[in-house]
Amino acid sequence: MKYLVANWKANKTTAEAIKWLQQSSKLPGLAKAKPRAGKAQSSKLKIILAAAFIHLSSLKEIIEKNKLNFCLAAQDVSLFPFGAYTGEVAAEMLKGLVDYVIVGHSERRRYFGETDELVAKKIKQALDFQIMPIVCVDEPYLESQIKTMEQWNNGTMEQFIFAYEPLRAIGTGKPDTPENANQLARQIKDAAKFNAPILYGGSVTNKNVKAFIDQEEIDGVLVGGASLEAKEFIKIIQAIQI
Ligand code: PGA
Repeated sequence: MKYLVANWKANKTTAEAIKWLQQSSKLPGLAKAKPRAGKAQSSKLKIILAAAFIHLSSLKEIIEKNKLNFCLAAQDVSLFPFGAYTGEVAAEMLKGLVDYVIVGHSERRRYFGETDELVAKKIKQALDFQIMPIVCVDEPYLESQIKTMEQWNNGTMEQFIFAYEPLRAIGTGKPDTPENANQLARQIKDAAKFNAPILYGGSVTNKNVKAFIDQEEIDGVLVGGASLEAKEFIKIIQAIQI
């Protein structure tokens, strides 16, 4: 199984998000109702849309109505449960709406001061409500983050997906080399002491996606900028060819 995650970040109005989904789902094979129509989205490829909170309900409705082969992810979750936390979205609110949540993205570390401990608390909230965390890590904080996660989650990290996202590669057009990403993926698996799926993220496009996906230790990709246009995203799906 390989993963393809589209991380839209803080982009798109709801109308634009819906249009993207309608355009992308025209690709043969993306509708579950016609599994033989094409092989773009086989059971070997899980496509996950990480959209802003406000888009999730509308997208879910379209996905269910048209039986589309997309899963949904939130881009963040509160570290708190229900309560007096103005502006927060608790994991319990997301239960049933998304299957995944991105946590610890470097943009949240950089712009919102998220620490290893805070990320670990968010992971715990997600797991308490059966939402699978996609935990972003990078070299400078790889070991410390994994250690903190272990402490907060009683050493069990079996339900995680990790995304190795080198800071220098995010949004720069300068991806890591597939070989180095492969090595880092192995390092993360070793540090976490189990075989979590590891995704690579950072300037992935339709031109380089295949080289990353084909690496032995890499189980998928997380795509930011190149996921924003439906046409471009379709090219990425087609380039993966599994
Ligand atoms: P990018 O973003 O593909 O635009 O580099 C990746 C990410 O931040 O998840």
